[in-house]
Amino acid sequence: MTHPFSYEGRRAVVTGGASGVGAALLDVLAELGAAHVTVLDLASPNGPHDAFLATDLSDEGAVRTAIADVDGPVHTLFNNAGVADTQAPDVVMQVNYLALRTLSEGLLDRMADDGAIVNTASIAGNLWRKRAEQIDALLDVDVSDGWGASLQWFDANADSLGQTPYNFSKELVERYTQRSSRPTIRRGVRTNSVCPGPIDTPLLPDFRKAASDQIIDWNIREMIGRPVAAREVALVLAFLGSSAAAYVNGVNLDIDGGFNAALATGQLDLSGR
Ligand SMILES: NC(=O)c1ccc[n+]([C@@H]2O[C@H](COP(=O)([O-])OP(=O)(O)OC[C@H]3O[C@@H](n4cnc5c(N)ncnc54)[C@H](O)[C@@H]3O)[C@@H](O)[C@H]2O)c1
Repeated sequence: MTHPFSYEGRRAVVTGGASGVGAALLDVLAELGAAHVTVLDLASPNGPHDAFLATDLSDEGAVRTAIADVDGPVHTLFNNAGVADTQAPDVVMQVNYLALRTLSEGLLDRMADDGAIVNTASIAGNLWRKRAEQIDALLDVDVSDGWGASLQWFDANADSLGQTPYNFSKELVERYTQRSSRPTIRRGVRTNSVCPGPIDTPLLPDFRKAASDQIIDWNIREMIGRPVAAREVALVLAFLGSSAAAYVNGVNLDIDGGFNAALATGQLDLSGR
């Protein structure tokens, strides 16, 4: 009998598979019997995969080339790659939002009827409701004709957002996950995201540099006293991308040990932030 979380017969595309969460995901997909895994990254992955497309996700042309080069059908697209505010604001927008959206929309035609798109967002994007109007204005800008208009919008509005580029990019991903889940499910493709707290990956020092040790250590303390492990995120990604999550659509799923539940119910210790 087939395991309900199985990837047997399923073909996956993973961005950012060379490190951290993406590398852990390659191991999980192999354990779950994935039929074929294509990785898009700057660096070549060490983990199990079948095809590697060297792709700079901050480069629109490279993203469109990769879309053309991916062999279909695609059962699950994992938009996982991301960069922190240690990189230039436009690069953060390009990798974290524009590439993710362009891949989602560009591969949709080649996705299987029981397909899934799973985005790696962040708890850093959970305050999107505060900026819903601005976020919707940017999401209304079509990306199929190019990224220029979106970047222009961002450059013109960045100073008035009251949010860092990284956090804003993750707010966009959460709202985009909700908005796009409707059109994708109409053709059988579910769209969800995960929103982890600080994860023990090579990117964590970048968040410490961008935000401060004090904030990250407080966040970790108020989760369950340790960062999330990359594999703990990868397992949830794999679940959302599998047919075990067949009726789950348009969800931004926190992986934070209850941090947001404690925030919502006034149980966080706000001292030491
Ligand atoms: N580490 C954390 O604390 C944390 C917390 C919440 C969410 N996240 C999110 O998790 C996801 C995975 O991050 P991670 O922690 O595993 O980071 P990581 O740095 O370990 O891995 C990121 C991968 O993305 C690739 N990448 C970066 N820029 C690229 C580009 N321009 N083109 C192609 N590939 C590129 C890197 O080569 C790397 O393989 C990201 O979306 C990140 O925002 C991370």
